[in-house]
Amino acid sequence: MAKILVISGHPHLDQSLANQTILTELKNSGLDITIEDLSEIGWDFDIEAERKAVVDADALVFEFPLYWYSYPALLKKWVEEVLAHGFAYGTGGTALQGKDFFISSTTGGPEESYSHEGPQNHPISEFFFNFDQLATFTGMKKHEPIITYGCMYVPGLSTEEDKQKIVDNCKASAQKLIEELKKI
Ligand SMILES: Cc1cc2nc3c(=O)[nH]c(=O)nc-3n(C[C@H](O)[C@H](O)[C@H](O)COP(=O)(O)O)c2cc1C
Repeated sequence: MAKILVISGHPHLDQSLANQTILTELKNSGLDITIEDLSEIGWDFDIEAERKAVVDADALVFEFPLYWYSYPALLKKWVEEVLAHGFAYGTGGTALQGKDFFISSTTGGPEESYSHEGPQNHPISEFFFNFDQLATFTGMKKHEPIITYGCMYVPGLSTEEDKQKIVDNCKASAQKLIEELKKI
């Protein structure tokens, strides 16, 4: 069975509905999954320990809420420091080659807003071009990002119906991801 490493980039996972729902589904999937919760590990992660976890894995999944059309700073720091020269790219930097790379992200904006005609002006793929190149540059096999749109949940303002819809959509996305992970 493939070993899967999920890097959860939500900075406040204890306050999350969407990412927490997806991660719970992944945990209960029966697949060989390790979840690195960066909100718990914190900003001062052990770079060598993180690299070892990456080397041991067959597949890497980035799980995160979309923050300002990109990934949260905590996950960005992880990428910058763990996937460094000599490890992930450059001379001797072959650690990621041949691994499978998946993105699972949640947005506040609804799906229809992410188009050239919508208020976000771009489909999500145009915001995620950097992940395509990250995979190419490091020799990973990229997979189609799995996006769960419309996940803005505001306790006290959102209704129970809104909340249930987000949970259902996140569970469906998690199942889609699990099916993709089963194929590798
Ligand atoms: C700092 C910050 C920036 C955000 N930027 C975006 C954004 O650029 N586009 C968007 O659709 N949603 C944005 N959101 C909404 C989050 O993506 C949304 O609340 C999150 O995906 C819900 O997941 P969670 O329940 O796991 O927190 C932002 C939220 C925060 C707190």
